[in-house]
Amino acid sequence: MQNHDTHSEMKRSSPNHATSWLEVKRPIVCLAPMDGVTNSAYRQIVRSLSKDVILFSEFTSVDGLVRSEHVRLRLDYEPCEHPFFMQLFGNSPEIFAEACRMVEDRGIWGVDINMGCPAKKIVHSQHGSALMQNPDAACRIVEAIRKACSLEVSVKTRLGWKDEKNLISFAKALESAGASMLTIHGRTYNQAFKGESDWQPIYELKRHLTIPVIGNGDIRDFNHGLEHLGNLDGFMIGRAAIGNPWCFQDRRKYPEPTHHERIEIALEHLHLYRRFKREIVAVREFRKYLGNYVSGFRNAKEWRSRLMQCNDEKTFVECMQEIKQLEPPLALAG
Ligand SMILES: Cc1cc2nc3c(=O)[nH]c(=O)nc-3n(C[C@H](O)[C@H](O)[C@H](O)COP(=O)(O)O)c2cc1C
Repeated sequence: MQNHDTHSEMKRSSPNHATSWLEVKRPIVCLAPMDGVTNSAYRQIVRSLSKDVILFSEFTSVDGLVRSEHVRLRLDYEPCEHPFFMQLFGNSPEIFAEACRMVEDRGIWGVDINMGCPAKKIVHSQHGSALMQNPDAACRIVEAIRKACSLEVSVKTRLGWKDEKNLISFAKALESAGASMLTIHGRTYNQAFKGESDWQPIYELKRHLTIPVIGNGDIRDFNHGLEHLGNLDGFMIGRAAIGNPWCFQDRRKYPEPTHHERIEIALEHLHLYRRFKREIVAVREFRKYLGNYVSGFRNAKEWRSRLMQCNDEKTFVECMQEIKQLEPPLALAG
């Protein structure tokens, strides 16, 4: 795990470390922050398959980071994860500033401020999406972070509260406050995850900003992302990436992973996961990734249901080995 002593060493030596957005390869392709999904183990797996993806951590409370040693374990990562953004939520500029200094001390590249989470608990505390309703408070947070450290500061938000009419003014204010990138999920707070995401307001927004703008919502994979890119600087993939770390690869250059590769990567992923969690917790939490890992297998339904019932690592690994023997190594055509 990264610690303070190796911080500057890592900054110099990491092949993925770029110092500014100007150096980041276009299009900027991002793994979305996803609570319970984009922890260090999964970020490492995605990085092992795609060296240019910008990785975003799960969201973490700034109050938690400042107060709790346990929450600070979220700052642990491996140098291969660079460049990555630690996503934070909260609403106090002072606490954001303190938390961001901790993030910077750990050699992490940037922070992303969550201004899009629609969960009741988060919004009631004036965090996440609630900040779209209060642009002054949102800008004070960005300014406080800018003053406190030299991290890249990005913001992830939505089209708006119930429509997109304030999107341009909100985003321009964030840019003036010092945000160095914006990611827009093409849904409103009211929509939560309902309906289809709308990228038209995001294309329009980009015409008014100079900082990079990343589009997010309903992208299946890299090539689908390219179809949506338009005038944007990049795109971000969330749900489609859960258990499908290959989705960031350009299929014009890389073949689809074989069934055997899928099994091997899933086992490696579980192995990494075990470093962070107790066995029973790791095996159970791993279930959320399984759907995609065995997607397209001849007996996918049966395998999924058997794997879902595993409660220890040994049974899980044996089941995976059995699948490997019984399934043809290559994806079946058609
Ligand atoms: C399980 C799950 C957890 C999520 N957690 C976060 C989070 O911690 N922070 C955040 O900004 N968005 C979070 N999101 C939203 C995603 O980052 C993304 O904006 C959304 O899923 C739309 O993109 P997609 O259609 O590619 O999935 C989460 C989404 C899912 C499905």
